[in-house]
Amino acid sequence: MAGRIIEEDKKLPAHIALIMDGNGRWAKKRLMPRSFGHKKGMERMIGLMEHAFDMGVRYMTVYALSTENLKRPQEELNGLFDLIRNHFSQYMSRICARGVRLKIIGDISLLPPDVQEILRDSEQKTSHYEGKGINVALCYGARAEIVRAANLAIERGEPLTEASFSELLYTGGQPDPDLIIRTGKEVRLSNFLLWQAAYAELYFSDKMFPEFTDSDLEKAIEWYGARTRRFGKTDEQL
Ligand code: IPE
Ligand code: IPE
Ligand code: MG
Repeated sequence: MAGRIIEEDKKLPAHIALIMDGNGRWAKKRLMPRSFGHKKGMERMIGLMEHAFDMGVRYMTVYALSTENLKRPQEELNGLFDLIRNHFSQYMSRICARGVRLKIIGDISLLPPDVQEILRDSEQKTSHYEGKGINVALCYGARAEIVRAANLAIERGEPLTEASFSELLYTGGQPDPDLIIRTGKEVRLSNFLLWQAAYAELYFSDKMFPEFTDSDLEKAIEWYGARTRRFGKTDEQL
């Protein structure tokens, strides 16, 4: 499967974005605390990234924590911060060893200082890599990202084009996501990559994130490969 997809270049998304939803419900169904779901979710996130890069995907953006998620009970947030403290560096170095650059996108100044340091440190270790990337969205909101970019543009005082505005977003320099996958049965974007999603193919899975397997990812990529991306044109013009 992997080999076939790499050969049929256009059928493979260059950039996959993932809304990893359903950790809490998955744990609840098993009479386990939500933190157990988040731990399983983090492990699955790493597994899926490994699989995607092995298939030849070049960019992955994963939605790990939204700005709005900061309204959750402090106990749940502390559990998420502990996951970063205990596992993030190790997991990320495993993936980034493939020559992948890590970027944290979002306002991490809202996180505890020691967590910010871990994230910056992990990013810095990969700063020499080019051409392949992971964006981990933490304290991320797409509207905030757009407003931030608009303020940067005002500071520069130059008229914008779509291309120059894109460069001011966290994802500047990267291809837009071709495929956005959301697990957890919900059919919405929840303030994720609103600008970058303009022409993304949207795939929704009923599975909760901890149970979304590598083969489910392959299915989503296969589904993507069967789409006709017209970008406004007619079939005849393609
Ligand atoms: C997504 O899973 C992960 C985060 C938002 C941190 P949820 O925690 O939203 O899980 P559900 O939607 O409650 O099942
Ligand atoms: C979206 O999931 C954010 C992440 C996956 C990190 P939510 O669970 O926060 O989304 P809503 O609140 O159901 O829209
Ligand atoms: Mg949710």
